[in-house]
Amino acid sequence: MSKAPTNRSRNSGFGFDRREFVLAGLAIAATAMLPRSKVCASTTQPLVSDRRRLGSLEVSPLGLGCMSMVAGFYNPAPPKQEMIALIRQAVEQGVTFFDTAEVYGPFTSEEIVGEALAPFKGEVVIATKIGFDFQGNRVTGRNSRPENIRRAVEGSLRRLRVETIDLLYQHRADPNVPVEDVAGTVKELIQQGKVKHFGLSEMAPQTIRRAHVVQPVAAVQSEYSLMERVVENGVLSTCEELGIAFVPWGPTARAFLTDRFNEYSRFAQEDRRASVPIFTPEALTANMPLLRLVRDWALRKGVTPAQFSLAWLLAQKPFIVPIPGTTNPHHLIENIGAAGVNFTAAELREIRAAVSQIEVQGVRAPESANEDQ
Ligand SMILES: NC(=O)c1ccc[n+]([C@@H]2O[C@H](COP(=O)([O-])OP(=O)(O)OC[C@H]3O[C@@H](n4cnc5c(N)ncnc54)[C@H](OP(=O)(O)O)[C@@H]3O)[C@@H](O)[C@H]2O)c1
Repeated sequence: MSKAPTNRSRNSGFGFDRREFVLAGLAIAATAMLPRSKVCASTTQPLVSDRRRLGSLEVSPLGLGCMSMVAGFYNPAPPKQEMIALIRQAVEQGVTFFDTAEVYGPFTSEEIVGEALAPFKGEVVIATKIGFDFQGNRVTGRNSRPENIRRAVEGSLRRLRVETIDLLYQHRADPNVPVEDVAGTVKELIQQGKVKHFGLSEMAPQTIRRAHVVQPVAAVQSEYSLMERVVENGVLSTCEELGIAFVPWGPTARAFLTDRFNEYSRFAQEDRRASVPIFTPEALTANMPLLRLVRDWALRKGVTPAQFSLAWLLAQKPFIVPIPGTTNPHHLIENIGAAGVNFTAAELREIRAAVSQIEVQGVRAPESANEDQ
């Protein structure tokens, strides 16, 4: 049976030794006993200190997804001040990469992120996304026309309280606007100093290639987890070939891989999971073998299922930076702990072989990797 990590391995991209790992474990145990607002500064040094690269940006190996800090996703909107404290707690623990989007809220996730990170200018990397149209606070559809990108960027700069957006993704392809036009518009914004790096979200390999010719793409963000592995069908290899970082969203499969749910779980209509195919009663039942595998491996590694699942992603490629989303300080500390989990090559082969035997229900079709989503 393998044990929790025992030696510091700089080359692996992780900055943990055994003492720090134990501290992370203690922090989880200690924070679990505290009220949500009191979790800050339970350890004296950051839990994570190593960095991975996104273009010329250096970020912590795990970022923080800030989508569900507002209503409309998995939970009712938590109090804003608690989310600001959570983001600052992440900074204290060494997280330097924060993910938001104009459409989250809309606008309010960016406001929270901007307020929370205002004291840390130059120390953190903020990524946001454009590509939607709004009437007031109502999302009316996709729109990546140049004038709408420019409008969105002005709003994001204001709400994020920055002079430059570190990383600007096109959130979804716009069937009415060629990606070359989007890349060209972002290129101009980079020349104007309003944006530093260009990213794409949920795009097919060919689209990534076309955009990259016009404006080098620093990062691609798409769904990727032990459960949803469709990007292994061409997207990841394209990123590797072109030197583009990959940012998995949904890295815990929206909490399925954290062992939070089981075959009896049911979701309220307000919870987005109610309409996600992996969370139908049939799929939950069918997918229990995958969850059992995750539980077994977490036990074997002496970590939690969430940590095992996130660490598995980190171990796939050195240019992968997952952005687990959370509104819970205990989960935040737990998730950061994944950066301290290492695998041997034999373990990774064993996991891959076992996972490949399990047919997962409710995930995307293999050929969808070749389509913009
Ligand atoms: N590019 C895109 O199209 C796209 C799409 C979706 C999301 N995103 C980005 O990616 C980020 C992450 O994706 P996601 O939020 O959809 O999926 P996720 O990170 O896999 O799952 C988030 C869910 O997991 C729960 N969770 C997190 N850590 C946990 C833990 N240790 N134990 C138990 N539950 C845990 C969270 O609840 P708690 O709040 O209770 O922890 C939340 O309900 C988002 O915040 C957003 O920034 C991008």
